[in-house]
Amino acid sequence: MEQFDFRRMSFYQIWIRSFMDGNGDGVGDLYGVYDKLDYIASLGVDGIWFSPIYPSPNADYGYDISDYRNIHPDYGTLDEFRKVLDRAHALGLRVIMDLVINHTSDEHPWFLESRKSRTGPYSDYYIWRDPKWKGESRLPPNNWFSQFEGLAWEYCPEREQYYLHVFAKKQPDLNMDNPRVREEVKGIMRFWLDMGVDGFREDVITYISKHPQLPDGIPFLPVINGQPYYKDGPNLVPYLREFREVAKEYGALQIGEAPMTPVKTALTYLTGEDRVLDMMIQFDTMGADCFMTEYLHHPFFLPKLKHAFSKWQYALAGKAWNALYLENHDHPRVISRYGSEEFRRESGTMLAAAYIFQQGTPFIYQGQELGMTNIRLGSIEEYQDVATKNAYHSFRRRQTEEKRLRHVHRASRDSARTPVQWDGSPNAGFSKAKPWFSVNPNYREVNAEKEEADPQSVLNFYRRCLRLRKGSDTLLWGDYREFWPQHPHLYVYERCYGTERILVVCSFSKTEQSWKLPKGYAWEGCTLLLCNYGEEPVPERLRPYEARVLRWDRK
Ligand code: NOJ
Repeated sequence: MEQFDFRRMSFYQIWIRSFMDGNGDGVGDLYGVYDKLDYIASLGVDGIWFSPIYPSPNADYGYDISDYRNIHPDYGTLDEFRKVLDRAHALGLRVIMDLVINHTSDEHPWFLESRKSRTGPYSDYYIWRDPKWKGESRLPPNNWFSQFEGLAWEYCPEREQYYLHVFAKKQPDLNMDNPRVREEVKGIMRFWLDMGVDGFREDVITYISKHPQLPDGIPFLPVINGQPYYKDGPNLVPYLREFREVAKEYGALQIGEAPMTPVKTALTYLTGEDRVLDMMIQFDTMGADCFMTEYLHHPFFLPKLKHAFSKWQYALAGKAWNALYLENHDHPRVISRYGSEEFRRESGTMLAAAYIFQQGTPFIYQGQELGMTNIRLGSIEEYQDVATKNAYHSFRRRQTEEKRLRHVHRASRDSARTPVQWDGSPNAGFSKAKPWFSVNPNYREVNAEKEEADPQSVLNFYRRCLRLRKGSDTLLWGDYREFWPQHPHLYVYERCYGTERILVVCSFSKTEQSWKLPKGYAWEGCTLLLCNYGEEPVPERLRPYEARVLRWDRK
C-alpha cells in the first residue's frame, strides 16, 4: 500500500500515565486521551505517537512489556483504544505505537518459559550465556554494564546461565538472531496495523542485532562500554528489511530510535526507495549541556547545539528526512536546559521556532507546548524512574546529598513525566484523585487554561509555528543554511525555495543583543512572518530570547 506523506506532518507524543486521568484513579489513561483529542487536534499536529500503553509491570514505565497485544488495565481496554483510534482518525490524526522489541519484561510469558530450561520452545528467545569461571568464582560472560542498573548480566539458577539485559534487570534482551523471534515481531506489527494504526516508533531499534561473540567492552567506561557490540550490529539491516516488508504492505510509517548512531550510519538506514526506516530519532541535539548523558553536565553551549542541528540538516538534505524534537519522555524539560525558567515564555517560544522551521517532521512532547519546566523533588525516594535512581546511586557518591540531588534536578527524565498541567485547580486538573506522581508546584502559573487565554503564550506560539510551517513550501522543502555557527548567543538559519527566502533568527540570550542581517540580505522588502513578542521588533536589536521569522522574495 502507498505510504502517506509523513514529511508534511507533525506529531504529538503522549506518555499516557501523566497525560490525563479520565477515570479518577490518579493515573492517566485512554479515557483521558479521548477527552483531549480535540485539544491535540487544535494544536495543528497531524499525528500522535503513543509511548507504550501495553500491559507492563512498569519497571521502566511501559518499556518493559509483558503482553504485546493488549492495553495495560491502568489505561483502559482494547475497545477503548479502538475508540480513541477512530476518533483520532476522524479528526485527521494518524496514530503510531511504540514498538519495543529489543527486550521484553522479565514477566513476559516468553521469558518465564525461557528461564525454565535450556531446551524448551522459548529457550532461545533471549540472549543466554554460560558463566565465565575464575577458579571457584562465577563471573558474567563479559564486562558490559547495563545502561540502567549495574552489570548487563543476571544469573538464572534454573538454567545455570546468565541472561543479557542492556537496560534494567527486568528487561531481558530478545535474541533477534532467532527467526522465530522475528516472526513474533512481525505478528505484533500486523496485530496493530490490522487494527488501523499507522506505524511505529521503534524503541532502541539499532540495538537489536548483537555482535555474535559478545566481546568485552572498554573496562573503565561506565554505562555504555558494551555499546560498540550491541549498536548498529551486523544483522541490523537485514532484520529491519524483514520488518519493512510488513510495514510496506500497510503503507505504515517507521521511525527508529537510535542512541548515538552517527549521521553517516543513519544514512544507510534512511536513504532511497529501499530504506529500512523513514526517520530516525538521533541523540546529538540532546547533548548541548552534557557529555553522553544528562548526568555528566556541562554548561549549555549554543554552538554545540547548532552544530548538532546543522550536521543533520546538511547530511540528510535531498537524501533523507529528519525527525525534529527537543523533548520527549527521556529527557528533562528543554526550557530548564537550553532556555531559562526566568524567561519561561520567551525562551519556550524561541525554542519552538529554533527547531520547528528546520527541514523535517517536528515532534512535540506533552506539556512542551505549555512551557512546562523541571520539577525539584526533596529526596531521591520521591523520584520514580529506574535510570534516575541508578544514576543517583552510582555517580558522585562522595558528594553531599544536596549536591547529588541538584544533579538529579537538572538531569532526571522524571521532569518530563510529571502530570500535565491542565489548569490551576487541585492536581493541576490532571485527576480528581491523588496523582500517581508529583505535580510540579508551578501549576498555578503554568497550565493549559492560562496558556489558552494568553495570545502570546507558549501554547499559542506553537500553534502559530505549526500553521506557518504547514502552509509554506519554503519551510517544508526549502534548502537549509546556517549563519555564524560560532556565535555564542544567536542561532540564525535560512530556508530557500523557488523565489522565496525565509530567515529564522533566535536569540538564546537573557540580555538584549544587537545584530545585523547576514551578508546578501537587506531590510528592504522584508516581511515579518512571526515574532514571539507582541510589540513591534526593533530591527537590529533582539530582546531576551527573541525569535523572528522573516521573509523575502528573491529577485
Ligand atoms: C528508550 C526509551 O525511550 C526509554 O524510555 C527506555 O527506557 C529505553 N529505550 C529502554 O526501552
